[in-house]
Amino acid sequence: MTGKRELRVKPIVNGTVIDHISGGQALNVLKILGINSRSKYVVSVLMNVPSGEMKGKDVVKIENREIDPEELDSIALIAPKATINIIRNYEVVGKHRVVLPKEVSGIVRCGNPNCISNTNEPVSSKFMVEPSGEEVQLRCSYCEFVIDRDIADHLL
Ligand code: CTP
Repeated sequence: MTGKRELRVKPIVNGTVIDHISGGQALNVLKILGINSRSKYVVSVLMNVPSGEMKGKDVVKIENREIDPEELDSIALIAPKATINIIRNYEVVGKHRVVLPKEVSGIVRCGNPNCISNTNEPVSSKFMVEPSGEEVQLRCSYCEFVIDRDIADHLL
């Protein structure tokens, strides 16, 4: 950092920085974390920031909240390279890569309209996460419906 003109968003004092999010997925990351217009946290969102190894990355900074890295693993579905940085008093005191969970619950809607998770029954969606080449696919634990592309378009 050589001066004010290069400053995009300030370092935060305390909180969580989710870095290396696939370009354009920051708003979906917030959705998965349940952060919306009713949330009171100070949140900074950067989208499509040029980054060495990635074409363009997104970054989300949440102030004064340390998110449990395990809580964040479901974002690996849409941002497999994301890193979670815990910040205390300006210092990065923890850095974690997201780990793809084996199962995700209550995050993605099943594409089968007759699935029990889409009825009035109090049943939240549940999918097994399966590798599919370089990507992953989701298999509904109730009806076996498979989502094999555009997972971000199926977020609840
Ligand atoms: N960060 C921040 N506030 C701080 C410290 C760090 O917002 N007080 C942000 C940085 O801007 C960066 C991320 O947290 O987006 C990780 O910080 P750091 O580990 O210092 O950066 P890098 O070494 O570039 O991280 P990596 O090796 O994960 O790319």
